[in-house]
Amino acid sequence: MALVDDLKEPLEVEERERRRFLALLGGGALGLASLGSTLLTLRFLWPPVEYEEESRFPLGRAESFTPNTVVAIPTHRVYVVRTDEGLYALSAVCTHLGCITRYDPAKRGISCPCHGSRFTEKGEVVGGPAPRPLHRLALLLEDGVVWVDTSKRVSTDALLRVA
Ligand code: FES
Repeated sequence: MALVDDLKEPLEVEERERRRFLALLGGGALGLASLGSTLLTLRFLWPPVEYEEESRFPLGRAESFTPNTVVAIPTHRVYVVRTDEGLYALSAVCTHLGCITRYDPAKRGISCPCHGSRFTEKGEVVGGPAPRPLHRLALLLEDGVVWVDTSKRVSTDALLRVA
């Protein structure tokens, strides 16, 4: 009987070690699963929100724009064109690959420094690779103040009539 007891003891020790190892493994797996589900819950409660840039800007009083002039507003990437009849706004973003165009008062035209597209003051393409005219942007008049909404495109003949 002593021989059986001698063999039995190391087997019990080995079994205990195996159980401890399995308990640690199970606890670790449970801990990882809990951590994962906690992180997913937190991500659900606080989703990564990206706030859009403001797209509506006041440009000034309607009468402050001199007839037959183009005013570049680099901060908003917009040109405001005042004609005898009214105002319209053009996006300064080139319709080729998105570079920012420049207005040249001497040539009374708009050009793109990247690949040489050229546009009229109406935004029409007169040269270079740009496939479309510059986008005309929505203008609004509120209490005598002109606002531009850079997120809204309007037709190429849209005009805000001002006195
Ligand atoms: S980005 Fe303007 S011409 Fe290419």
